Amino acid sequence: TPATPAAPATPPSFAFPAERGGCPFDPAPVYEQARKEQPTCLVSLWDGSRTWLVTRHEDVRTVLGDRRFSADATNPGFPFLSAGRRELATRSPSFIRMDDPEHAHLRRMLTGDFIVKRVEALRPRVQEVVDDFLDRMTTDRTSADLVSEFALPVPSLVICLLLGVPYEDHDLFQRCSAVLLDSRSTADQTRQASDELVGYLEHLAGEKEHSPDEAIISRLVARGELSRQEVARMSLLLLVAGHETTANMTALSTLALLRNPDQLARLRAEPQLIKGAVEELLRYLSVVQAGVTRVAVETVELGGHTIRAGEGVVCLLSTANRDEGVFGTPDDLDVARDARRHVAFGFGVHQCLGQPLARLELQIALETLLRRLPGLRLAVPFEEIEFRPDMAVYGVKALPVTW
Ligand code: HEM
Repeated sequence: TPATPAAPATPPSFAFPAERGGCPFDPAPVYEQARKEQPTCLVSLWDGSRTWLVTRHEDVRTVLGDRRFSADATNPGFPFLSAGRRELATRSPSFIRMDDPEHAHLRRMLTGDFIVKRVEALRPRVQEVVDDFLDRMTTDRTSADLVSEFALPVPSLVICLLLGVPYEDHDLFQRCSAVLLDSRSTADQTRQASDELVGYLEHLAGEKEHSPDEAIISRLVARGELSRQEVARMSLLLLVAGHETTANMTALSTLALLRNPDQLARLRAEPQLIKGAVEELLRYLSVVQAGVTRVAVETVELGGHTIRAGEGVVCLLSTANRDEGVFGTPDDLDVARDARRHVAFGFGVHQCLGQPLARLELQIALETLLRRLPGLRLAVPFEEIEFRPDMAVYGVKALPVTW
C-alpha cells in the first residue's frame, strides 16, 4: 500500500463529550490534547452535527464575554449536548438560555438575593443545617453514604429555604432534577420531568398568592410582572442549579481530598485555608463537565478560525481550568494556590448567579466535615466508587465513608 500522505492541518474531530482517562478527576485526555494542539477545533455531537470546541482559558473568556455568541437556544444552529437538553432548553427556557436585555431583566429580579452580603447573613443558618445533617449521619453509626446523607441534603434544604419550597417534597424535585441532568434521558423523559416540576412549582406559586412568605417565589409572585409559569421556570432553574451542583462538588471534593492526603492534612492543620481550598477544588474538579454552550450570531474570528453565524460553540471549563498558561502545575490539587481566575462558574453575563451561596455552602460543609470527623476515610476501595460521566454535573453516585 502507498504511504499515507501527511494529514492536512485540519482540526482533529472527535465525538463530544469524550470519555475520561485513567484519573477520574482529570478531563478526557483527548480534550487536553486538543487544548495543546488545536485549542479551537471541530467536534461531532450525538445527533451528527458539528460544533466548535474551545478549550483554552483565554478563548473561553473571550467567547463568554462576547455578545456575538448567544445563549439563546432558539437561534438556528444552537448546539445541544443531548436530546434531553434540547427538549429542556426549548420547552422550559429560563434566563440562562436568553440574551440581554431579557436575560438581564429577569436576572436582576434575583441579584439582591445572591449578593455576598445577603448570602453571608445566612452563615449561621447554613452552619446549623450542616451540623444537623452531620449529627443525624453520625449518631450511633460509624459509616454512611456521604452523598445521600450529607452532600445532597444540605444544599437541597438551603435552596428550599431560600425559595420557599417545602423540603418534604425533595423526593419529587430530586427525582426530576436527576432526569433533567442526565444526558441519557430521552426527549420524552425530559418533557415529563420538566412538566412535572414546572407544574409542581406553578401550583406552589399559586399557593403563595394567597399565603405569601418572605422567600423568593412569594416575592416573584408579588411583583405581579411574571406569569405563574414564568415564576415556575425561574424557580426550576434555581432549584436544579442550586442543589445538584453544590451537592456534587461537596462529595467529589471530599473524595479528591481523601485521595490527596498531604493536601487533606494541610487543610486540617490550617483550616483558615478553606476559602482558597474551595476555589482550588472548583478549579480542579470543574463539575460542569461538558462546559457551556453558545451559538455565533455573527461571523467571528477565533484562534485562527472563522466561526460563522449559526455555528455552535462549546466552551470547555475543565480544560480552561487546567491551562498551564494560567495555573502552574495545573494537574496538581494544591489547596494553598491562588485559583481565583478559574472559570468553574462560567464567565461574562451568565456567570453563575448562585456562586456566593455555593462558596458559602462548600466552605462550611467541608470545614465542618473535616473538623468533626478527623478519622474520615473511604469505606470501600477507591476502585469501587462509581462516577457520573453521563450527568451534566460530574460527581460520584455514592460515597461510602467511615470515621
Ligand atoms: C449559571 C456553575 C451553584 C444558580 C452557572 C454557570 C455555571 C455554573 C458554569 C454558567 C452557565 C452558562 O454560562 O451557560 C455552578 C457551580 C456551582 C453552582 C459549579 C456549585 C458549585 C449554583 C447555585 C445556584 C446557581 C447554588 C443557586 C441558587 C445559577 C443560575 C445560573 C447559573 C441561576 C444562570 C445565570 C445566568 O444565566 O445569568 N452556574 N453553579 N448555581 N447558576 Fe450556577
